[in-house]
Amino acid sequence: TQRTLVLLKPDAVRRNLVGEILGRIEAKAGWTFAGLELRQLDRATLEQHYEEHIGKPFYEPLVEFMLSGPVVVLVVEGERVIEGVRRLTGPTDPIAAEPGSIRGDFGTIVRENLIHASDSEESAIRELKIFFPGLS
Ligand code: GTP
Ligand code: MG
Repeated sequence: TQRTLVLLKPDAVRRNLVGEILGRIEAKAGWTFAGLELRQLDRATLEQHYEEHIGKPFYEPLVEFMLSGPVVVLVVEGERVIEGVRRLTGPTDPIAAEPGSIRGDFGTIVRENLIHASDSEESAIRELKIFFPGLS
């Protein structure tokens, strides 16, 4: 069984979409929440989390956006959750995301795309260590 790191970004919290998004994830058979917290992130954490994007033109605005309010930090556990949550989320650009996906239903702006989910087993392990260093 797998674990994945999910962030509900500041736009999701501001727009009161936390319940809606958590509900979609929680409703999937056999998946459970192994960690769940509303948290104001700091720059050092985001630098680690988004290290692959350092230097790209969207990096600084992305970090500023992620610092603009609290996020929901979530660990989802269950069968094939890494691929599964990515499917629920939809692609990065919300306009390209299918209706029925979280980004496709609620997003329009690439930066304000509501949710982050680990994109591979390696990313999940790396990101879980950053956000939940105590989780065994
Ligand atoms: P995450 O699940 O948040 O990691 O999104 P992703 O895996 O779909 O995208 P990626 O890891 O490539 O980029 C991380 C985040 O940076 C995205 O979710 C967007 O918020 C933002 N981002 C990525 N590419 C662009 C871009 O070309 N322009 C802008 N403005 N933001 C971008
Ligand atoms: Mg990513």
